[in-house]
Amino acid sequence: MSAIAIKPDIYWVGVNDRTSDLFEGLWPITQEGVSYNAYLVRDERQAIIDLSKAIKGDQFFEQVAAVTDLSALDYIVINHMEPDHSGVLRTLLRIAPQVEILGSEKTKAMLESFYGVTENVRVVEDGETLSLGQHTLQFFSTPFVHWPETMMTYETSRRILFACDAFGSYGALRGAIFDDDCADLDFYEQEALRYYANIVAKFSRMVLRAIDKLADLPVDMIAPSHGLIWRRNPERIVELYRRWAEYATGPTEPGITLLYASMYGNTEKMMNTVAQGISSEGLPLDIFDVHHTHVSYILSSLWTKAGVMIGAPTYEGGLFPYVVHVLDMAKRKGVRGKLLGYFGSYGWSGGAQRELGQWVEDLKWESGPVLDFVGAPTQAELEQGEAFGAAFARSVRERLEQR
Ligand code: FEO
Repeated sequence: MSAIAIKPDIYWVGVNDRTSDLFEGLWPITQEGVSYNAYLVRDERQAIIDLSKAIKGDQFFEQVAAVTDLSALDYIVINHMEPDHSGVLRTLLRIAPQVEILGSEKTKAMLESFYGVTENVRVVEDGETLSLGQHTLQFFSTPFVHWPETMMTYETSRRILFACDAFGSYGALRGAIFDDDCADLDFYEQEALRYYANIVAKFSRMVLRAIDKLADLPVDMIAPSHGLIWRRNPERIVELYRRWAEYATGPTEPGITLLYASMYGNTEKMMNTVAQGISSEGLPLDIFDVHHTHVSYILSSLWTKAGVMIGAPTYEGGLFPYVVHVLDMAKRKGVRGKLLGYFGSYGWSGGAQRELGQWVEDLKWESGPVLDFVGAPTQAELEQGEAFGAAFARSVRERLEQR
């Protein structure tokens, strides 16, 4: 994709990354890809807003060079220092050594620690404006969306908010860069949720603070640094981010995430009847085999759904290790307030349930019903499992109604 004018003299100069398997070395994007969106404002003085990951440097510089003379850039605005947006900085400084780098106070320190860059750096204050000629940029401090140095940049004449990680999503761009050109908004919304749950969720309080801070700013276009640009309906992505951020402390959606692991099929057999019971109550249900599904995808479900059902055998007197991994990531991301049910097989003594109790405490979840059984489930136990699932679903719904 070549550079695209998003408004007269304002260009998307981003790149798609379909090469990296993992975002942040952690989150799978092999199938989905990701875009590193950067923007160029061409005026009497020229500014580039955010850059790209180093691995895509050649393509990035081609994009910019198609619109302007790289060596004639006046400003680089660093909204966020994470190297998916700053990785090509040192190379760009070799091409355009005169350029002035603008960022927050914390950005200044990070420029030195990440890249050894200390010259031509100017700290911009919250609310400060910069005239480029016909265009004016205004900078807003929005710390911890995603790192502490983060800010957003607003172009005042066209009312564009360059929001960096905020309002972003996984998913390389498929030719269409605007929400109104995109035939598969559901994909980007689902990937925005996964991105939120993986990358941003821990900072939900700061997301809400940033949204509230900028609530009165007239915005015609939201141009994040990952995923679609929202111009037909910028409110949509703000609303989604607000809703997800509120899930950190408030009620979530009626629905259940069922996580299971099975060594020899006994717990899996029970899982199917528990799922039948849950579904009989009409609650949305996501089922994940924790061995086969990367936690990145599981977090989207955990973040949004009110109930969690874990089906896993006791393993060496404790919880099945893949389940522990998911719970650990849930804890790190601040997944709170869930009602938890548990079922599983054990061979000679239990133990999974005891360990789970500690996790419930750590996660600040609420313990719900338990159904464990020795070895393979009997027919009677399977029937019990169906009733167990249905009762759990009712508890999740009732608990939500009480909140
Ligand atoms: Fe897209 Fe926090 O970097």
